[in-house]
Amino acid sequence: KYEKIWLVFGILSLAIFLSIVGITAFGQGHTPAGGMDTIDPEKVNEIAPFDNPGVRQIDKNTYEVAIVGMAFGYNPSNIRVPVGKEIIFTLTSTDVVHSFTIKDTKVNMMVVPGRITHKSYTFDKPGKYLVLCNEYCGTGHHFMQTEIEVY
Ligand code: CUA
Repeated sequence: KYEKIWLVFGILSLAIFLSIVGITAFGQGHTPAGGMDTIDPEKVNEIAPFDNPGVRQIDKNTYEVAIVGMAFGYNPSNIRVPVGKEIIFTLTSTDVVHSFTIKDTKVNMMVVPGRITHKSYTFDKPGKYLVLCNEYCGTGHHFMQTEIEVY
C-alpha cells in the first residue's frame, strides 16, 4: 500500500521535473543564439548606440564602436581607435546582410538587418586597416569598404 503511494509520488515528481525542463528549453528557444540582440531595422537611427554612431570610451581600457552598415558603405566611414585597448565593434544593418571584415585580423562579422552583432578585438599595431564587405549585397558590393585608423 505504501509502495503505491511512493510510486505515485515518484511519477508526479518526474512529471513536474520534465515540465520544468520543457518550459526552460522553450524559453531559451526564443532567445537569439550567441547573445545577439534584435533591433527594428527601420528605427536604427533612433536607437542607441546607433542614434549616435562612432567611437565612445566605455572605461580606461575599453572602447565601443557603433557602426551601421548599409548599401554600400559604413556609417561612420572615418573610424579612429587606440592601439592596445579592447575595441568592441557593435554593428547592425538597415537593409540587407553585409559583413564587416577587417583585413589581416580575426574580425569577420555578419551585419544583419534586425540584429545587433558584437565583436571584441584589440589591435596590437598602429596603422591603417582596410575593412571590406564579404557578403554579396548588390551592385555596389565591390565598392563597399572603409578604413580604420589605429593610433
Ligand atoms: Cu555590403 Cu557586400
